[in-house]
Amino acid sequence: MMDFTELKKKQRATWALGEYDRIADGLTISTDQTLRVAQIHPGERVLDLATGTGITAIAARERGAVVTAVDITPELLSVARDKANKAGFGDIDFREGDVEALPFADATFDVVVSTCGHMFAPDQSKVAAELARVTRSGGRVVFLAWTPEGGLGGWFRITSKHFPSPAGVASPFNWGDPDKVKQLLGSAFRDITFTNGDCPQFGASPEDIWELFSTRYGPTIRAVASLQGDALLAFRSELLSYLAGYRAADGKVRWGREYLITRAVRV
Ligand SMILES: C[S@@+](CC[C@H](N)C(=O)[O-])C[C@H]1O[C@@H](n2cnc3c(N)ncnc32)[C@H](O)[C@@H]1O
Repeated sequence: MMDFTELKKKQRATWALGEYDRIADGLTISTDQTLRVAQIHPGERVLDLATGTGITAIAARERGAVVTAVDITPELLSVARDKANKAGFGDIDFREGDVEALPFADATFDVVVSTCGHMFAPDQSKVAAELARVTRSGGRVVFLAWTPEGGLGGWFRITSKHFPSPAGVASPFNWGDPDKVKQLLGSAFRDITFTNGDCPQFGASPEDIWELFSTRYGPTIRAVASLQGDALLAFRSELLSYLAGYRAADGKVRWGREYLITRAVRV
């Protein structure tokens, strides 16, 4: 079995780079749809996994849930706490933690959600086991993952061509593939259903989106920092051509970011 300790330290440092909250600003559509699929009722105990700067945790709190949220990156949790306090939701329990080893007792939550979050943890079987462990019987898990064939799938494919991911690590995009999700969730869940959607990133030009992601989005910043000279130019140029493929008739870019939302009920 692989030891992911070192990899997770690097991932945590990567997510702290830039200013992830500016990227999260563009994720209102995906968060909102995930919570609509979750059908959260006031008073339900909700856990938001890999909360980042807290957008989904805060939106669940707005719907009246009692919210706990976990992330591995303390710098992002600090932004999340500030935002929650400003919104009057200082009662959200934000905790540092790893989705592969959650700091909660069995069957603690009515609903466990994650928006493009838990998909990034490397040990997918452990994550699936933790989803099952902390969700009460009859409770539900609802999570959003980018699809492998969608816009972010393509972005990460180009990124790993220029800045290879470590060998032997499962693709995060497995969580955006219905067959693989069913395998991962196994027999601990029933009534597994899927909803597809798209949360486009808009930009005045390909350069506009490159500028946003290469200065604010950790995984892209890390790739940029590891490349020099012609290698960096080649990476930039391939991503710009990729984005140019998403130009709309008015010349602006509407980069489709297709996602899969999974909803499943704990047996
Ligand atoms: C793309 S961000 C998503 C954040 C948030 N859910 C949202 O919708 O904006 C991915 C998040 O996963 C977190 N993360 C990655 N690996 C993790 C792990 N093993 N345990 C907990 N959080 C993790 C990162 O720190 C980062 O905040």
